[in-house]
Amino acid sequence: HRIECFDEVDSTNNVAKRLAEEGASEGTVVIAKTQSRGRGRRGKPWISPEGGIWMSIILRPEVHPSRALLLTLVTGVAVARTLQDECGLEVGIKWPNDILIGDKKVCGILTEAHVRFNTLEYVVVGIGIDTNVDVKAFPDDLREGATSLKNELKRDIESGALIEKFLENFEDVYNSFKDGEIDEILSEWRKLSKTIGSRVEIRKQLGEIVYGEAVGINSEGALILELDDGTLRKIISGECIHH
Ligand code: BTN
Repeated sequence: HRIECFDEVDSTNNVAKRLAEEGASEGTVVIAKTQSRGRGRRGKPWISPEGGIWMSIILRPEVHPSRALLLTLVTGVAVARTLQDECGLEVGIKWPNDILIGDKKVCGILTEAHVRFNTLEYVVVGIGIDTNVDVKAFPDDLREGATSLKNELKRDIESGALIEKFLENFEDVYNSFKDGEIDEILSEWRKLSKTIGSRVEIRKQLGEIVYGEAVGINSEGALILELDDGTLRKIISGECIHH
């Protein structure tokens, strides 16, 4: 596979998007040492100092656009496997895409689907892992909820080896996805999930807030909430807060 490495870019998702528009093939990977305008979900900036892993993967799955959410879960499973196997860490996942150690976030995933005429043209999956960074240097509002591999393990980790293992794991889980083994992936995701069984608050884009108990995810990767009046509600996007 083509792997493009940079010292600094605005955002590896932007570079990957540009390459995809120019026809780059599935499996093209963009990695940068730092990002000057790293992006998180919901338009938030993503702090990307040297020492972290900032990367994006171009995918061209031949599936309906509604399946794009599943790619976030696929990626989460691959990151979780990697951190467990390579670092011996116990990790969890907060729906849809935060990888947690305890209740602190160590990795975020930004999946951007590019749809034309109702078909999925390509998808850019961006992965940010706080590896050899010190979250004590993060701004106040982020510091408390974040951790890094270095903060957890009290030593530097070898980023190159971790990236390699992650790409292997990603390829395995992604191939299962393409082979239609969605149930297997979702059951691994459910085991890792810290959201299912928790009381959650979902902040929707337009300011709506939904409270309920997360009771499961469906075959599209959507979160199923049981509201206080006992009805079920399907959530396909929004910020999830555990209570
Ligand atoms: C989130 O949890 O809000 C998602 C964070 C995603 C960050 C990664 S770092 C590599 C890629 N490039 C970006 O600009 N964002 C993603």
